Amino acid sequence: MGTVTVNERGSRAGVRDLGRGMPQPLEERVAHLQRVFTRQFGVAPSVITRAPGRVNLIGEHTDYNDGFVLPLAIQRDTLVAARARVDGQVRAYSATLRSGAQWYLRDVEQSADQPWSNYLRGLTKLLPEAGVPIAGADLAIASTVPLGAGVSSSAALEMATGTALLSLAETSRATTTLALLCQRVENEFVGVRTGIMDQFVSGLAQAQHLLLLDCRTQAYEYVPLPDGFVIGVADTGVEHGLVASEYNRRRAECELGVAALAAVLPGIRALRDVSVEDFVRHEHTLIDPVRRRCRHVVTENARVLETVAALRAEALDRVGELMYASHTSLRDDYEVSIPELDTLVEAGRGVRGVVGSRMTGGGFGGSTVTLVEQRAVNHWSRTVRDVFRQHFGRIPRTFITTPAQGASIVWHATD
Ligand code: GLA
Repeated sequence: MGTVTVNERGSRAGVRDLGRGMPQPLEERVAHLQRVFTRQFGVAPSVITRAPGRVNLIGEHTDYNDGFVLPLAIQRDTLVAARARVDGQVRAYSATLRSGAQWYLRDVEQSADQPWSNYLRGLTKLLPEAGVPIAGADLAIASTVPLGAGVSSSAALEMATGTALLSLAETSRATTTLALLCQRVENEFVGVRTGIMDQFVSGLAQAQHLLLLDCRTQAYEYVPLPDGFVIGVADTGVEHGLVASEYNRRRAECELGVAALAAVLPGIRALRDVSVEDFVRHEHTLIDPVRRRCRHVVTENARVLETVAALRAEALDRVGELMYASHTSLRDDYEVSIPELDTLVEAGRGVRGVVGSRMTGGGFGGSTVTLVEQRAVNHWSRTVRDVFRQHFGRIPRTFITTPAQGASIVWHATD
């Protein structure tokens, strides 16, 4: 039998779901998934991995513009139990969705019936192409990452599955290499042209730290979350069917902006290369909405770097101003917010102990991220839930988290 290596500081401590019950401790979830796997496949798993979801403190829609992001992993993760097969077949079962899927490695196709399995299918196609030997696998999945809440349940699923498949193949890859491969799964197999933020933070995150990532060079550093502060997440419960098309459209608009600005700023490759001063000087050459899209990205990159400086200087008032400015820019210039997100941000703003708040992730639904003093968390949660209920007639899910650890192997058979 194997051992439980509980290396996720905080997967037990510090997690509180203010809307629903606390997630079970990791050991119990691991034991439960072992039972699920054995029931499903008639044999025990040989490895169990985990990878977390994320929220982004600031730096939205900057990653695919070669810019900066400042996300953290949340204390909600996806567990994947796995065992190798030798017959070229993959069988997958999601205990969370109570749905199963199977396919052959010689013929990996997208599935319309089990869309969750496309993240796994894509990995079983791209990993062998990247030289990782896979002859088949049984996979069972259980997740505490809220689905459809904009906190990257898909990146968690990809990174946990990728970590498991690498372990089955008895090989390893740099976390950044796996993250890039998982991004390709989203881009090429699922069809959304996402950037690298979600997979990178799900893989690289460190407990109690934010991850400052330069999405061009892929250089990163860890920025500690100030003591006594936590992250509040409030989920609008809105899942917009147009996310993928609107997301891809924003990306195309940014590319149009770069092409137009290159006429006056020769040598720029991405909006990352445009300073706020250059933008102000040349924005008249752009037509709307491209001008406003570019203004968001250019100013957002500057806000990320200033937020890091302010965190390091313990200038939390400034951090808050930057978070609110980010939200306003996403609402008015990038046009990816919705009234539910605006209401949650505004409701939290008046609460003593709240540093700052903004929408997080791609937008058109999903969640807000709020930096709040630990002792003000209950007040924040009550307030945003009350105000939201008055506006929309239902109570949003909220939870608090501190930054969690990135993807890891949590259990493996020792025999
Ligand atoms: C989604 C994408 C990320 C990033 C954000 C917006 O979460 O997956 O790559 O672009 O939207 O910042």
